[in-house]
Amino acid sequence: MTKPVLLTLSGSLRKASFNRMLVAEAARAYGDAEVIEGDLNLPLYDGDVEDEGVPAPVQTLIDQVRRADALVIGSPEYNKGISGVLKNAIDWLSRAKPNVLADKKAVILSAAAGRTGGETGHFMTHSILTQLQVNVIHGPLILVAAAHNEFGEDGRLKNEFLSGQIADRMARLREELG
Ligand SMILES: Cc1cc2nc3c(=O)[nH]c(=O)nc-3n(C[C@H](O)[C@H](O)[C@H](O)COP(=O)(O)O)c2cc1C
Repeated sequence: MTKPVLLTLSGSLRKASFNRMLVAEAARAYGDAEVIEGDLNLPLYDGDVEDEGVPAPVQTLIDQVRRADALVIGSPEYNKGISGVLKNAIDWLSRAKPNVLADKKAVILSAAAGRTGGETGHFMTHSILTQLQVNVIHGPLILVAAAHNEFGEDGRLKNEFLSGQIADRMARLREELG
């Protein structure tokens, strides 16, 4: 049987991003899968640029989304909203024809420095993706608050409650992918 393809997307670009660690943790919790790390370091959406031809890194992302069985999205909130990096990527993806996001399964997670774990940005991401017909795997919001305290030197999540939440959500995704 072929392995399911999981595309991990971090709404933060920095190398030591806690959200990058979080999506890696979720992909590990899924088990046997082909995991691709998407790169959201894309040019800003611009209709003129689009008219000249979709930029190569955007096309790569579109192709990866098309191939993926599920998206695993982790993002901080920035100023109580969705990160610009993630929103820009979604804007580009929303322009692909045919729609690459329709019925795509997705798990959303967030890690942030604040005590709500990026809840407001998480809600926004959920709302935008739902509008684009993404099939978000529902469940209690997975929010890593004070993220700087929750990951070890090895980049692994230390918090057992959160690890349990992630394991449950990825088990749900496994069921959904059959
Ligand atoms: C521009 C900016 C805005 C931020 N706004 C928030 C915020 O609204 N809520 C919050 O909890 N943390 C906020 N933070 C802190 C981030 O949660 C923190 O930097 C987090 O580690 C970013 O995720 P990362 O580790 O994946 O890069 C902000 C950080 C930046 C750079």
